[in-house]
Amino acid sequence: MITRHAITELRAQLAVWRAAGQRIALVPTMGNLHRGHLRLVEQARMQADRVVASIFVNPLQFGPNEDFERYPRTLAADQASLQDAGVDLLFAPSVAEMYPHGRETLSSVHVPGVSEDLDGAHRPGHFDGVATVVSILFNIVQPDVALFGEKDYQQLAVIRQMVRDLHLPIEIVGVPTQRDADGLALSSRNQYLSPEERTRAPALHAALKAVAAALDEGRRDFEPISEEQCKVLANKGFDVQYLAIRRPDLGLPDATTQRFVVLVAAKLGRTRLIDNIQAPSGQI
Ligand code: PAF
Repeated sequence: MITRHAITELRAQLAVWRAAGQRIALVPTMGNLHRGHLRLVEQARMQADRVVASIFVNPLQFGPNEDFERYPRTLAADQASLQDAGVDLLFAPSVAEMYPHGRETLSSVHVPGVSEDLDGAHRPGHFDGVATVVSILFNIVQPDVALFGEKDYQQLAVIRQMVRDLHLPIEIVGVPTQRDADGLALSSRNQYLSPEERTRAPALHAALKAVAAALDEGRRDFEPISEEQCKVLANKGFDVQYLAIRRPDLGLPDATTQRFVVLVAAKLGRTRLIDNIQAPSGQI
Protein backbone atom coordinates (compact mmCIF):
# COMPACT_ATOMS: atom_id res chain seq x y z
CA MET A 1 0.00 0.00 0.00
CA ILE A 2 1.23 3.47 -0.92
CA THR A 3 0.72 6.32 1.56
CA ARG A 4 0.51 9.87 0.25
CA HIS A 5 0.26 13.04 2.35
CA ALA A 6 0.44 15.58 -0.49
CA ILE A 7 -2.31 16.24 -3.04
CA THR A 8 0.11 16.61 -5.99
CA GLU A 9 1.74 13.24 -5.25
CA LEU A 10 -1.64 11.58 -4.81
CA ARG A 11 -2.83 12.98 -8.14
CA ALA A 12 0.31 11.75 -9.92
CA GLN A 13 -0.37 8.17 -8.78
CA LEU A 14 -4.07 8.37 -9.62
CA ALA A 15 -3.24 9.63 -13.12
CA VAL A 16 -1.23 6.44 -13.76
CA TRP A 17 -4.15 4.22 -12.74
CA ARG A 18 -6.65 6.30 -14.66
CA ALA A 19 -4.49 6.20 -17.81
CA ALA A 20 -4.56 2.39 -17.52
CA GLY A 21 -8.38 2.58 -17.56
CA GLN A 22 -8.72 1.45 -13.95
CA ARG A 23 -11.86 2.11 -11.92
CA ILE A 24 -11.14 3.88 -8.64
CA ALA A 25 -13.06 3.59 -5.37
CA LEU A 26 -12.75 6.03 -2.47
CA VAL A 27 -13.39 5.19 1.19
CA PRO A 28 -13.26 8.47 3.15
CA THR A 29 -12.63 8.05 6.89
CA MET A 30 -11.42 9.95 9.92
CA GLY A 31 -9.22 7.00 10.94
CA ASN A 32 -9.23 5.01 14.17
CA LEU A 33 -10.53 2.22 12.01
CA HIS A 34 -12.80 -0.60 13.15
CA ARG A 35 -14.59 -3.51 11.49
CA GLY A 36 -17.16 -1.12 10.00
CA HIS A 37 -14.49 0.75 8.03
CA LEU A 38 -12.89 -2.50 6.89
CA ARG A 39 -16.28 -3.61 5.60
CA LEU A 40 -16.35 -0.44 3.45
CA VAL A 41 -12.94 -1.41 2.05
CA GLU A 42 -14.11 -4.96 1.38
CA GLN A 43 -17.11 -3.63 -0.57
CA ALA A 44 -14.89 -1.11 -2.37
CA ARG A 45 -12.62 -3.89 -3.58
CA MET A 46 -15.64 -5.54 -5.21
CA GLN A 47 -16.56 -2.29 -6.98
CA ALA A 48 -13.25 -1.09 -8.40
CA ASP A 49 -9.74 -1.98 -9.61
CA ARG A 50 -8.06 0.37 -7.14
CA VAL A 51 -9.13 1.34 -3.65
CA VAL A 52 -8.09 4.67 -2.15
CA ALA A 53 -8.82 5.27 1.55
CA SER A 54 -8.47 8.67 3.16
CA ILE A 55 -7.79 9.46 6.79
CA PHE A 56 -8.43 13.04 7.78
CA VAL A 57 -9.88 14.27 11.07
CA ASN A 58 -11.75 17.18 9.57
CA PRO A 59 -11.89 20.19 11.92
CA LEU A 60 -14.73 21.76 9.89
CA GLN A 61 -17.26 19.18 11.01
CA PHE A 62 -16.66 19.51 14.77
CA GLY A 63 -18.47 22.14 16.84
CA PRO A 64 -16.52 24.35 19.29
CA ASN A 65 -17.36 22.11 22.28
CA GLU A 66 -17.02 18.80 20.47
CA ASP A 67 -14.27 16.19 20.49
CA PHE A 68 -11.94 17.37 17.67
CA GLU A 69 -8.92 17.58 19.98
CA ARG A 70 -9.44 14.22 21.66
CA TYR A 71 -10.69 12.34 18.57
CA PRO A 72 -8.45 9.22 18.48
CA ARG A 73 -5.60 9.46 15.95
CA THR A 74 -4.04 6.05 15.32
CA LEU A 75 -2.32 6.36 11.95
CA ALA A 76 0.24 3.54 12.31
CA ALA A 77 -2.38 0.96 13.36
CA ASP A 78 -4.77 2.22 10.67
CA GLN A 79 -2.08 1.90 7.99
CA ALA A 80 -1.49 -1.72 9.01
CA SER A 81 -5.19 -2.64 8.90
CA LEU A 82 -5.76 -0.87 5.56
CA GLN A 83 -2.76 -2.68 4.07
CA ASP A 84 -4.13 -6.02 5.32
CA ALA A 85 -7.56 -5.16 3.93
CA GLY A 86 -6.10 -4.63 0.44
CA VAL A 87 -6.20 -0.85 0.09
CA ASP A 88 -3.93 0.36 -2.73
CA LEU A 89 -3.39 3.92 -1.57
CA LEU A 90 -3.87 5.77 1.70
CA PHE A 91 -4.29 9.54 1.47
CA ALA A 92 -3.52 11.06 4.87
CA PRO A 93 -3.24 14.84 4.47
CA SER A 94 -2.57 17.41 7.17
CA VAL A 95 -5.02 20.23 7.92
CA ALA A 96 -2.59 22.64 6.17
CA GLU A 97 -2.57 20.43 3.06
CA MET A 98 -6.37 20.36 2.89
CA TYR A 99 -7.01 23.99 3.89
CA PRO A 100 -3.80 25.83 2.81
CA HIS A 101 -5.50 29.24 2.81
CA GLY A 102 -6.99 28.79 6.28
CA ARG A 103 -10.59 28.24 7.21
CA GLU A 104 -11.83 31.84 7.62
CA THR A 105 -12.58 32.41 3.95
CA LEU A 106 -12.85 28.81 2.84
CA SER A 107 -15.59 28.10 0.29
CA SER A 108 -18.27 25.96 1.90
CA VAL A 109 -20.79 23.47 0.56
CA HIS A 110 -24.26 23.65 2.10
CA VAL A 111 -26.86 21.02 1.27
CA PRO A 112 -30.24 22.57 2.08
CA GLY A 113 -33.16 20.65 3.53
CA VAL A 114 -31.73 17.27 4.38
CA SER A 115 -28.82 18.67 6.40
CA GLU A 116 -30.92 20.99 8.55
CA ASP A 117 -32.77 18.92 11.13
CA LEU A 118 -31.94 15.89 13.34
CA ASP A 119 -28.13 15.92 13.64
CA GLY A 120 -28.04 19.15 11.63
CA ALA A 121 -30.12 20.88 14.31
CA HIS A 122 -28.09 19.43 17.20
CA ARG A 123 -24.69 19.99 15.58
CA PRO A 124 -24.94 23.34 13.75
CA GLY A 125 -22.51 23.51 10.82
CA HIS A 126 -21.65 19.81 11.05
CA PHE A 127 -23.04 18.80 7.68
CA ASP A 128 -21.57 21.87 5.96
CA GLY A 129 -18.20 20.65 7.26
CA VAL A 130 -18.88 17.12 6.01
CA ALA A 131 -20.19 18.24 2.59
CA THR A 132 -17.24 20.61 2.16
CA VAL A 133 -14.53 18.07 3.01
CA VAL A 134 -16.21 15.29 1.02
CA SER A 135 -16.52 17.52 -2.03
CA ILE A 136 -12.82 18.48 -1.69
CA LEU A 137 -11.89 14.78 -1.42
CA PHE A 138 -14.09 13.97 -4.41
CA ASN A 139 -12.42 16.74 -6.39
CA ILE A 140 -8.91 15.61 -5.44
CA VAL A 141 -9.44 11.87 -6.00
CA GLN A 142 -12.19 11.98 -8.67
CA PRO A 143 -13.28 8.45 -7.80
CA ASP A 144 -15.76 6.45 -9.85
CA VAL A 145 -17.43 5.18 -6.69
CA ALA A 146 -17.34 6.21 -3.02
CA LEU A 147 -18.53 4.20 -0.04
CA PHE A 148 -20.04 5.37 3.25
CA GLY A 149 -21.52 3.57 6.26
CA GLU A 150 -25.28 3.57 6.78
CA LYS A 151 -24.74 4.19 10.50
CA ASP A 152 -24.39 7.85 9.50
CA TYR A 153 -27.71 7.68 7.65
CA GLN A 154 -28.28 11.43 7.46
CA GLN A 155 -24.68 12.02 6.32
CA LEU A 156 -25.24 9.53 3.50
CA ALA A 157 -28.44 11.36 2.51
CA VAL A 158 -26.58 14.71 2.53
CA ILE A 159 -23.80 13.30 0.34
CA ARG A 160 -26.27 11.71 -2.09
CA GLN A 161 -28.10 15.02 -2.49
CA MET A 162 -24.83 16.92 -2.93
CA VAL A 163 -23.67 14.52 -5.65
CA ARG A 164 -27.06 14.77 -7.36
CA ASP A 165 -27.27 18.57 -7.19
CA LEU A 166 -23.66 19.19 -8.25
CA HIS A 167 -23.83 16.59 -11.05
CA LEU A 168 -20.78 14.79 -9.70
CA PRO A 169 -20.12 11.65 -11.78
CA ILE A 170 -19.61 9.49 -8.70
CA GLU A 171 -21.62 6.47 -7.64
CA ILE A 172 -22.42 6.58 -3.92
CA VAL A 173 -22.72 3.23 -2.15
CA GLY A 174 -24.13 2.84 1.37
CA VAL A 175 -22.83 -0.09 3.40
CA PRO A 176 -24.91 -1.61 6.24
CA THR A 177 -23.97 -0.81 9.84
CA GLN A 178 -21.63 -3.26 11.55
CA ARG A 179 -22.52 -4.12 15.14
CA ASP A 180 -21.02 -5.79 18.16
CA ALA A 181 -22.72 -9.04 19.21
CA ASP A 182 -24.90 -7.15 21.72
CA GLY A 183 -26.20 -4.81 19.00
CA LEU A 184 -24.10 -1.69 19.64
CA ALA A 185 -23.25 -0.06 16.30
CA LEU A 186 -19.50 0.12 15.76
CA SER A 187 -18.15 3.65 16.12
CA SER A 188 -14.77 5.17 16.90
CA ARG A 189 -16.53 7.06 19.69
CA ASN A 190 -17.53 3.83 21.52
CA GLN A 191 -14.10 3.85 23.12
CA TYR A 192 -15.05 7.00 25.06
CA LEU A 193 -17.59 4.87 27.00
CA SER A 194 -16.61 3.71 30.49
CA PRO A 195 -16.92 -0.07 31.04
CA GLU A 196 -20.16 0.55 32.94
CA GLU A 197 -21.59 2.78 30.18
CA ARG A 198 -20.59 0.18 27.60
CA THR A 199 -22.88 -2.35 29.31
CA ARG A 200 -25.82 0.07 28.95
CA ALA A 201 -25.04 1.29 25.43
CA PRO A 202 -26.80 -1.58 23.56
CA ALA A 203 -30.12 -0.20 24.90
CA LEU A 204 -29.94 2.28 22.02
CA HIS A 205 -30.24 -0.45 19.39
CA ALA A 206 -32.87 -2.23 21.52
CA ALA A 207 -34.98 0.96 21.53
CA LEU A 208 -34.72 1.21 17.74
CA LYS A 209 -35.76 -2.42 17.41
CA ALA A 210 -38.77 -1.80 19.67
CA VAL A 211 -39.87 1.14 17.48
CA ALA A 212 -39.37 -0.93 14.31
CA ALA A 213 -41.41 -3.78 15.83
CA ALA A 214 -44.27 -1.36 16.65
CA LEU A 215 -44.23 -0.09 13.05
CA ASP A 216 -44.12 -3.67 11.74
CA GLU A 217 -47.22 -4.44 13.86
CA GLY A 218 -49.01 -1.63 12.02
CA ARG A 219 -48.91 1.13 14.63
CA ARG A 220 -48.85 4.59 13.08
CA ASP A 221 -49.02 6.77 16.22
CA PHE A 222 -45.47 7.96 15.60
CA GLU A 223 -45.11 10.41 18.52
CA PRO A 224 -46.27 8.00 21.26
CA ILE A 225 -44.14 5.16 19.84
CA SER A 226 -40.98 7.23 19.98
CA GLU A 227 -41.86 8.83 23.34
CA GLU A 228 -42.22 5.34 24.88
CA GLN A 229 -38.69 4.45 23.85
CA CYS A 230 -37.29 7.88 24.81
CA LYS A 231 -38.57 7.16 28.34
CA VAL A 232 -36.97 3.70 28.34
CA LEU A 233 -33.65 5.27 27.30
CA ALA A 234 -33.96 8.12 29.82
CA ASN A 235 -34.53 5.53 32.58
CA LYS A 236 -31.28 3.89 31.54
CA GLY A 237 -29.44 7.20 31.90
CA PHE A 238 -29.39 8.34 28.25
CA ASP A 239 -29.87 11.99 27.41
CA VAL A 240 -31.90 11.56 24.21
CA GLN A 241 -31.49 14.35 21.63
CA TYR A 242 -33.95 12.84 19.17
CA LEU A 243 -35.62 9.56 18.35
CA ALA A 244 -37.34 10.19 15.04
CA ILE A 245 -39.45 8.06 12.73
CA ARG A 246 -38.94 9.20 9.15
CA ARG A 247 -39.45 8.11 5.56
CA PRO A 248 -36.33 6.67 3.91
CA ASP A 249 -35.76 10.11 2.29
CA LEU A 250 -35.90 11.59 5.84
CA GLY A 251 -39.23 13.33 5.16
CA LEU A 252 -42.00 13.13 7.75
CA PRO A 253 -44.11 9.96 7.46
CA ASP A 254 -47.89 9.83 7.39
CA ALA A 255 -50.49 7.08 7.77
CA THR A 256 -49.85 5.85 4.21
CA THR A 257 -46.07 5.51 4.61
CA GLN A 258 -44.91 1.90 4.12
CA ARG A 259 -41.16 2.11 4.68
CA PHE A 260 -39.41 3.88 7.50
CA VAL A 261 -36.06 4.75 8.96
CA VAL A 262 -35.86 5.33 12.72
CA LEU A 263 -32.97 7.51 13.83
CA VAL A 264 -31.66 8.18 17.30
CA ALA A 265 -29.00 10.38 18.88
CA ALA A 266 -28.34 10.25 22.61
CA LYS A 267 -25.61 11.05 25.07
CA LEU A 268 -24.42 8.45 27.53
CA GLY A 269 -22.19 10.29 29.97
CA ARG A 270 -19.87 12.39 27.77
CA THR A 271 -20.31 10.18 24.71
CA ARG A 272 -22.72 11.07 21.94
CA LEU A 273 -23.98 7.98 20.10
CA ILE A 274 -26.10 7.78 16.94
CA ASP A 275 -27.79 4.82 15.31
CA ASN A 276 -30.67 3.99 13.00
CA ILE A 277 -32.79 1.08 11.83
CA GLN A 278 -34.97 0.44 8.82
CA ALA A 279 -38.52 -0.88 9.01
CA PRO A 280 -39.68 -3.23 7.67
CA SER A 281 -36.15 -4.56 8.04
CA GLY A 282 -33.92 -4.61 4.97
CA GLN A 283 -36.50 -2.92 2.70
CA ILE A 284 -34.92 0.45 2.04
O1 PAF B 1 -18.04 9.54 8.35
C1 PAF B 1 -16.91 10.05 8.52
O2 PAF B 1 -15.98 9.42 9.00
C2 PAF B 1 -16.67 11.50 8.12
O3 PAF B 1 -17.80 12.27 8.36
C3 PAF B 1 -16.22 11.65 6.66
C4 PAF B 1 -17.27 11.17 5.68
C5 PAF B 1 -14.92 10.88 6.45
C6 PAF B 1 -15.94 13.13 6.35
O4 PAF B 1 -14.97 13.65 7.20
